[in-house]
Parts: sequence; structure tokens; C-alpha cells
Amino acid sequence: MFNLFWSFFLLTSLSSEAVIQDFQVAQPSVVPVDTKRCTVEIFRHDFANSFVDGSAIAQLDPPEDCGPVGSWAAITLNLTVTTNGTQFDRLGIFTFHGVEIWRTSTFEPTIGDGVIWTYIKDVTQYIPLFSGSGEFLLELDNLIETGLDGIYSTTVIATYYESSAEHPPAKKADMIIPISTLSNTTGDDASVPPTFSLNITVPNNAIAIYAEIFASGNGLEEDWFFNVPDEFLPEISSNITSAHDGFREVRLLIDGLVAGVVFPYITIFSGGFIPSFWRPIGSYGVAELPTYFIDVSPFVPLLTDGFHHNFSLDVVSAEANHTINPNWFVSGILQVILDASSDPTTGNMTVHSASDFADTSITGSVTDFGHFNATVTATRDIRIEADILSGSGQLTHVVWIQDLQFSNIQTYKNNGIQATLTQTSIGNSSSTHNGVTVLSDVFSYPFSTNFDYFDETLSNWTSSIDHSYDRALLPNPLRVASMINNHQTTDGFFQLGTEKIGNFGNGTNNNTFSYSDAEGKTYTRRVNAINSNFNDTITISLDEVGGNLAH
Ligand SMILES: *[C@@H]1O[C@H](CO)[C@@H](O)[C@H](O)[C@H]1NC(C)=O
Ligand SMILES: *[C@@H]1O[C@H](CO)[C@@H](O)[C@H](O)[C@H]1NC(C)=O
Ligand SMILES: *[C@@H]1O[C@H](CO)[C@@H](O)[C@H](O)[C@H]1NC(C)=O
Ligand SMILES: *[C@@H]1O[C@H](CO)[C@@H](O)[C@H](O)[C@H]1NC(C)=O
Ligand SMILES: *[C@@H]1O[C@H](CO)[C@@H](O)[C@H](O)[C@H]1NC(C)=O
Ligand SMILES: *[C@@H]1O[C@H](CO)[C@@H](O)[C@H](O)[C@H]1NC(C)=O
Ligand SMILES: *[C@@H]1O[C@H](CO)[C@@H](O)[C@H](O)[C@H]1NC(C)=O
Ligand SMILES: *[C@@H]1O[C@H](CO)[C@@H](O)[C@H](O)[C@H]1NC(C)=O
Ligand SMILES: *[C@@H]1O[C@H](CO)[C@@H](O)[C@H](O)[C@H]1NC(C)=O
Ligand SMILES: *[C@@H]1O[C@H](CO)[C@@H](O)[C@H](O)[C@H]1NC(C)=O
Ligand SMILES: *[C@@H]1O[C@H](CO)[C@@H](O)[C@H](O)[C@H]1NC(C)=O
Ligand SMILES: *[C@@H]1O[C@H](CO)[C@@H](O)[C@H](O)[C@H]1NC(C)=O
Repeated sequence: MFNLFWSFFLLTSLSSEAVIQDFQVAQPSVVPVDTKRCTVEIFRHDFANSFVDGSAIAQLDPPEDCGPVGSWAAITLNLTVTTNGTQFDRLGIFTFHGVEIWRTSTFEPTIGDGVIWTYIKDVTQYIPLFSGSGEFLLELDNLIETGLDGIYSTTVIATYYESSAEHPPAKKADMIIPISTLSNTTGDDASVPPTFSLNITVPNNAIAIYAEIFASGNGLEEDWFFNVPDEFLPEISSNITSAHDGFREVRLLIDGLVAGVVFPYITIFSGGFIPSFWRPIGSYGVAELPTYFIDVSPFVPLLTDGFHHNFSLDVVSAEANHTINPNWFVSGILQVILDASSDPTTGNMTVHSASDFADTSITGSVTDFGHFNATVTATRDIRIEADILSGSGQLTHVVWIQDLQFSNIQTYKNNGIQATLTQTSIGNSSSTHNGVTVLSDVFSYPFSTNFDYFDETLSNWTSSIDHSYDRALLPNPLRVASMINNHQTTDGFFQLGTEKIGNFGNGTNNNTFSYSDAEGKTYTRRVNAINSNFNDTITISLDEVGGNLAH
């Protein structure tokens, strides 16, 4: 929460004995263990004053000695970062050929020996990009200024896995088209508001198009879920929170029609709430922010006319005019499947049942200033159908459905310095092509927290968080269905320090993670940490790993 605290809090260790290994709980990448691999170091780059100096940019060529280019079984990226000193968490955006492929965020450093982390990101789904030489870019805007000396030193390595009879080439789209700013010097994501729009021409023999959406709140939108509905804003100090309620919907529109929407998961960056929660275990999603999937195939009959069409991304609230604060960073990817015939695809969108905005309500009751409850709810029902006739004569009936529900209940008392939030966000999105499920996303992202500032100096506080990421996901027919359940609970204390001793805090962080997929791969991990900044110790009190992906 809270205007005081966006991504801002820094934890200053008084001393440090060893490099701290930070991590986000996640399953290992599912890659062949017994085939040839080709490893390419893409770059090493120190992000110091990179807000001014710009992104890391390298030319990346496909390796020639891991089988025919593009026939790989898998590709992964290894991001390893070391940093020491004092620094805020920073957002990192990877693009390749002008297409965003990975959004990450940094762990805050410690003074002394600092921290290190490695995250392996599976980028197999972007093989069409990795099959051609191009510009590989990481935008990680950092600043060095008084009191902030942490430099993020990164190494990025790509590993290509040769395919074999046992590990066939990965399924891939025929083409990837970005919904991005197309900049070749920055991370390509657009800042909204205002709405971002791009004219895109798709090949006229496209027969299916699957979108992936990246979206994260920044500035006054970083803690969007704790923003207060405008009608209750006069009831609370502007030092504590900001405007435009706790509901956010990311919308993809094509030629002005809603194609699909996202109710985003809450990713908490490593400076969020209480930074000592997140040392050494990050909030789920911090190293690889979740992305979201929309089947835009029902629009194919409209898009294959040879002309460009307008794709727009925006983010809206539950306020009457749907306004939000600055800003969200958004971008998208279209994975395009082409017909074997070069004759144009035809057909008709037969159903478009999607209102421009979700059905929302804002209610609450006020006792007196700084003592009130506010509830925001939202529901979404989308149904879009089309008949698609390929140039080679295949007729496909597409049904894309979204059924989403959201509620955000905030309570404030004691002049607003004691707050609670209980948020539920659940949904079921699916797409069938001739009755076969090609995309399915069943999610639940419950989030609850207590936050207590003790007194109106707002200089120390306790908080606890209980949140989950429960998602059964088939992103598109090129990928494998998987189920992830992560439950994370944290509690801790934080105190803003003096210049001499710095901020300090403590915290515990307990995680229960499980992964399973349609190919029978499994992974589980239970890991708990206790971070005491008073005596400067980090204790992993439990770490149990299981499943057939565990090594
Ligand atoms: C901390 O980082 C600085 C550069 O920012 C480096 O010179 C120094 O060696 C690092 N210290 C440790 C202990 O890694
Ligand atoms: C990732 O890269 C780092 C070097 O940057 C290396 O030390 C580490 O072993 C790599 N991790 C994996 C799992 O490949
Ligand atoms: C970036 O794009 C501009 C024009 O779009 C081009 O002139 C420039 O050479 C490109 N830069 C790189 C590094 O490819
Ligand atoms: C898209 O093209 C139309 C003309 O077809 C033009 O009016 C509009 O400004 C273009 N939009 C963008 C975002 O380029
Ligand atoms: C939308 O309404 C809010 C009040 O709820 C107001 O602060 C804001 O200026 C309005 N925005 C626009 C674009 O009209
Ligand atoms: C689309 O609609 C037109 C006009 O009703 C019809 O002639 C055509 O057969 C339809 N195409 C498909 C693939 O259903
Ligand atoms: C807010 O909600 C809590 C719990 O539901 C309830 O105990 C309290 O009376 C409510 N306060 C106000 C001002 O409505
Ligand atoms: C609250 O905000 C006011 C106005 O911006 C500022 O003067 C005051 O110092 C703030 N109080 C705290 C406790 O941060
Ligand atoms: C919180 O900070 C205030 C002002 O610095 C201090 O008086 C108070 O004792 C602190 N409370 C706790 C629980 O540390
Ligand atoms: C974490 O687990 C430990 C051991 O079971 C427990 O004592 C602690 O209260 C838990 N903390 C949270 C925040 O759930
Ligand atoms: C964190 O510090 C607070 C305040 O000193 C203390 O009450 C609490 O027990 C500490 N928690 C841990 C996990 O060290
Ligand atoms: C550090 O403090 C924590 C709780 O605050 C305690 O559990 C731990 O034993 C302490 N470690 C040392 C080495 O004193």
C-alpha cells in the first residue's frame, strides 16, 4: 500500500557475512536432459544509470550446431544478477526482434557482499523469433544517486536444446507479431493511460491467432489493489493511499470491439509492503511476471482482408469514467497460425457478446474520517463466436468465452492507519475450435493483508499477507496444459531508519508450491524463511522439494 510505499522501501543491512542467494519459487523448466545443447552468452551488462544510459542491446544469431535452425526441442534463458549496496527494485523487460518475451523485477541488494539470483525462463514458445538473427534487448531502468548505489550486474545466457526422436521439435507458430511500440532502443511496452493503439496487418491466410498480454502497474498503480474508490477518497489522508479504486481490467480491443480482457494477478515487487518479507524468497511472480492469454481467432475473418486493423490495449477501473492513475506498462504478442494454402481465409464472426466494460459496483459505509469500509465488485461475461473458412477449405467453428469475477474489500480504522484488504479474483476462460479445447485458463488469485502503521508518523508498521496463485492453464494449442498452485504467507515488521542506521525490518515467508502438467511432469516445494534484520540473519527453516522434475 500506500503512497509512502510504492516500490520504495529499502532494507539496509547493518553488516553482511555472505552473498545472499535470493529466489522465487517456480518449477524447473521442462527441457530434455539427454540431448545436445548449445549455449550462447548474449551479454553481460551492468545496469547503473541505465534510466539515462539506456538498455542492454546485443545481436543474437541462431546457433548452427544444435540441429537445423528452428528445429530445437526447447530454448531457455538464464538471467543471473548480482548487486550490492542500496537500491530500489527495478522492472526488467526483455524483447527480441521488438517483441516482449519476459517481464521480470529485481531483488533489492544488501550492503557488503550483496545478493545474487538466477532465474531460468522457458522461451520455447518464441522459437519463431529465435530462428532469425536480431536485436536482443533488456531494459532495466536503474538510477545511481545520493543514497542509492546498487548496480544490477547481469549475465544473460541462452541455451538451445537439439531435438531428437525422443524430444521432437517444439510446436511453433508460423509467425509472431508484436502489439508494442516497436522501439528498438527500449523495452517496447506502452505506458497507459492513454490507450495504446497499433495498426496491424495479418497475412490473409491466417487461420488462428492467439494473443499473450503483459501488464504491470507502476507509480500510483503499483499498489492498484489498495487504491480507494473515489467516493471514499475524502475519508482518508492522501498520505496513505490514492484514487480510482482497487479494480483493474486490461482490455484488448480490435477495431474498437472487446476481444478479451485480463483480471491481473497481484505481483509484489521486492520493495513492497515490507522488504524483509522478500529476502531471500520473492513474492510469487516477481522474477517472471504472469502473462495472460486471449484467443483472437474469432476476429480472423475480419483481419484477413489484406488491410490493417487497430489493436488497442488499455487498463480501466470501476469508476464511472473508468479512469486510472499513471501508469501501466502493457504489450502483447500475437502467435499466428497460417493455412497451407495461400488463398485468403474467409468467414464470419457470428456472435460478439462482450460489453465495453465489466459490470461493476462500489459500495461502503463510513463511520467517520479514516474509519470506513469500501467494496468493489466486478463481473465479466464474454462470448465471441466465428466460422472460419480456410483457403484450403477447412471450416472451423470457434467459441471464445470468459467468465470472470472480482471483489476487493478494504477496511480502514484508527484514522486510516490500520487497514485490511480481502481480494478475490477468479475466472474461467476457454476457447474451442470445432469443439476441441485449444485455450483454457481457470484461475483464482486470492489476496488478503493486514497493515498497521502504529501511529500517524507512518514511520514503522507491521503487515501480513496471505495470497495464492492457483491456475490451470493451457495458453494455446502450441503448449502443454499445466497446473500451478502457490500459497504464500508472510508477516513482519518494518521501521524507517535514520540516515546513520538505515531502514530495518524482519519477516517470515512461507511457501507451498506445486506444479503438474499434461505430460506427467511434477514438482513440489515447501520453503519457509525467517529474516531478522536486527541481528542480520536469514534462516531457511524448512525446504522440501519433490516431484519428478526435482533433481
Ligand atoms: C560491491 O559492488 C561494487 C561495485 O558496485 C564492487 O566494486 C564491489 O567489489 C562489490 N563488493 C562485493 C563485496 O561484492
Ligand atoms: C546461469 O548462469 C550462471 C552464470 O551467469 C551460472 O553460474 C549458472 O550455473 C547458470 N545456471 C543454470 C541453471 O544454468
Ligand atoms: C532502430 O530503428 C531505426 C529506424 O527504425 C534504425 O535507423 C536503427 O538502425 C535501428 N537500430 C538498431 C540498433 O537496429
Ligand atoms: C490506423 O490507421 C488508420 C487509417 O486506416 C489511421 O486513421 C489511424 O490513425 C491509424 N492508427 C494508428 C495507431 O496508427
Ligand atoms: C474521472 O472521474 C474522476 C472522479 O471519479 C476524476 O477525478 C477524473 O478527473 C475523471 N477523469 C476523466 C478523464 O474524466
Ligand atoms: C459468411 O456469411 C456470408 C453471408 O451470410 C455467407 O455467404 C458465407 O457462407 C458465410 N461464411 C461462412 C464460412 O460461414
Ligand atoms: C467494516 O467491516 C467490518 C467487518 O466486516 C465490520 O466489523 C465493521 O463494522 C465495518 N465498519 C464500517 C464502518 O462499516
Ligand atoms: C502527509 O502529507 C503532507 C502533505 O503532503 C505532508 O506535509 C506530511 O508530512 C505527510 N505526513 C506524513 C506522516 O508523511
Ligand atoms: C514507531 O515509531 C515511532 C516514532 O519513531 C516510535 O515512537 C514508536 O515507538 C515506534 N513503534 C514501534 C512499535 O516501534
Ligand atoms: C510460517 O511457518 C512457521 C512454521 O510452521 C510458523 O511458525 C509461522 O507462523 C508461519 N508464518 C506465516 C507468516 O505463515
Ligand atoms: C520482528 O520485530 C518485531 C518488533 O521488534 C518483533 O515483535 C517480532 O517478533 C520480530 N519477528 C521476527 C520474525 O523476528
Ligand atoms: C536472530 O533473531 C531471530 C529472531 O529475531 C532469532 O530467531 C535468531 O535466533 C537470531 N539469531 C542469532 C544468531 O542471534
